[in-house]
Amino acid sequence: MFAAKSIARRGLQLQPATLLAKRTKVTLPDLDWDFGALEPHISGQINELHYTKHHQTYVNGFNAATEQFEELKTKLDSDPTVAKQLIALQQNIKFHGGGYTNHCLFWKNLAPTSQGGGEPPTGALAKQIETQFGSLDNLISLTNSKLAGIQGSGWAFLVKNMENGGQLEVVQTYNQDTVTGPLKPLLAIDAWEHAYYLQYQNKKVDYFKAIWNVINWKEAAKRFDAAA
Ligand SMILES: [Fe+2]
Repeated sequence: MFAAKSIARRGLQLQPATLLAKRTKVTLPDLDWDFGALEPHISGQINELHYTKHHQTYVNGFNAATEQFEELKTKLDSDPTVAKQLIALQQNIKFHGGGYTNHCLFWKNLAPTSQGGGEPPTGALAKQIETQFGSLDNLISLTNSKLAGIQGSGWAFLVKNMENGGQLEVVQTYNQDTVTGPLKPLLAIDAWEHAYYLQYQNKKVDYFKAIWNVINWKEAAKRFDAAA
């Protein structure tokens, strides 16, 4: 009886600590739609592989690299040369962390046409686009030309630049480099071959044109309004 009470008490004592445990791992985000819901613009097969294999690899890679970083840090006191290993690990953290972050943005800024995908933005974002680019079509053309210019793998981002009075900019990056600091991402568009090759093969320009049919401008407008 006493033992049972003691265990129960210990259990109760442990509960708050468990609840307060720090989050140390990232996981795949939930999707708001089924893999096939972006067809015919992006095939279900592409989305399934992209999410379950490619994005998962970045999740795993980021978790492994940050875990290794934390472990190595504890050895700094006894072996200062560990600093070099910590520096080397930063490339992995940047690559996989960028891959994890960029894909989270990407999934959320896509939507099936039945859920508003492709519907032009409204509100403050629409006004800002009109003011800076003249029309949404002009912004899309500019973004597509940046996407087409990527040699190898990379991304294009529509950002709100907080160091430039909240102006919109189209930023192109290579590999999994992401945008940080004052560049607040509104849209992230994946230009890696894994994002289109099964459906579009060498015609990546057709993929860049098609993706605007499933761009979730409501999400972009929300990010625009929230950026400060
Ligand atoms: Fe990707």
